[in-house]
Amino acid sequence: MKFKERVFSGMQPTGSLHLGNYLGAMLKWIDLQKTHECIYCVVDLHAITVWQDPAELRQAIRQVTAAYIAAGLDPKKSVLFNQSQVSAHAELAWVFNCVARLGWLNRMTQFKEKAGKDREAASVGLYAYPNLMAADILAYRATHVPVGEDQKQHLELSRDIAQKFNNDFSDAIRSAGYDDGEFFPLPEPVIVGPATRVMSLRDGSRKMSKSEPSDLSRVNLTDDTDLIAKKIRKAKTDPEALPSEIEGLSGRPEAENLVGIYAALSGTAKSDVLSEFGGRQFSEFKPALADLCVERIGPIADETRRLMADPAEIDRVLADGAGRAHNIADPILGEVKDIVGLIRSAS
Ligand code: TYM
Repeated sequence: MKFKERVFSGMQPTGSLHLGNYLGAMLKWIDLQKTHECIYCVVDLHAITVWQDPAELRQAIRQVTAAYIAAGLDPKKSVLFNQSQVSAHAELAWVFNCVARLGWLNRMTQFKEKAGKDREAASVGLYAYPNLMAADILAYRATHVPVGEDQKQHLELSRDIAQKFNNDFSDAIRSAGYDDGEFFPLPEPVIVGPATRVMSLRDGSRKMSKSEPSDLSRVNLTDDTDLIAKKIRKAKTDPEALPSEIEGLSGRPEAENLVGIYAALSGTAKSDVLSEFGGRQFSEFKPALADLCVERIGPIADETRRLMADPAEIDRVLADGAGRAHNIADPILGEVKDIVGLIRSAS
């Protein structure tokens, strides 16, 4: 079956978003919005797989929604909402808990990283997290999922779940009128561009992340212009000048990271950045990068703050998006229930 192209992606409302989220995912979300039907979610059910302060969580859901809009997502064009308002996500996740195999989840590296040494103390939700992610995508039969590199393994699992569902229920799927036996598409990861894995500004071997203790390790989408410039100025580098060719970046993770950030922010390739800055010292490159970062991120922070002044309006945007999400997901979930053999009310 040929599936209609549809984009789905999401971010967790835990702490403020950072440059890695923006360059690794959001820039692509904004691009895809021009050509595709897009559904962008604030994945609050994923956030509670580790304990969250309830008041802070509520605030973070609104903050991430405001950042989506401030960065350029149009809530009239795309569907923007928070996951917990659309019960199809949790319901389909249960079905997928019964389709996915323990062995598949045992291989998930993000669970191992997040659970740390004391795995017995991790929540069951944290373990089953990738099944909920598959449900997020497949509740809309989405075909394309723009994400950063770190989500690749989770997306492979989503494809495995879709495939196993199609196989396990192939007769029922055919009886429901899908002659080729394919109910779910195998969603494609969209991991493209010069910054699919943005690294910490303090250590080029670690991913830029919300959970890194040092705030200097990341540029937050809420930082003011002085702070953005300071963080870039203080970013770790090496003593060499920038190379003129891409090959010259190998073994220089900090240099490679900053060049990737510059390329993504300016909409060019790393090789273009090196043709411009090759042979120049970081003392010249960093101010140019700081200016670019301030120019691109500064307005997002300002607009987020402006939107946050009216939380009721943000809640209205989320409720409107949730209504539209329901309209797409509910009939799909209904068909899943029929295919699996559950009974639902006729209305
Ligand atoms: P999350 O909230 O950790 O990150 C949101 C998005 O930002 C990307 N990202 C990065 N990209 C490049 N460099 C970095 N340092 C960096 N840090 C984060 C992530 O790859 C992601 O695209 N499980 C997901 C959320 C999710 C989801 C989904 C995504 C839930 N359901 C369905 C897609 C489809 C997560 O925790 O992302």
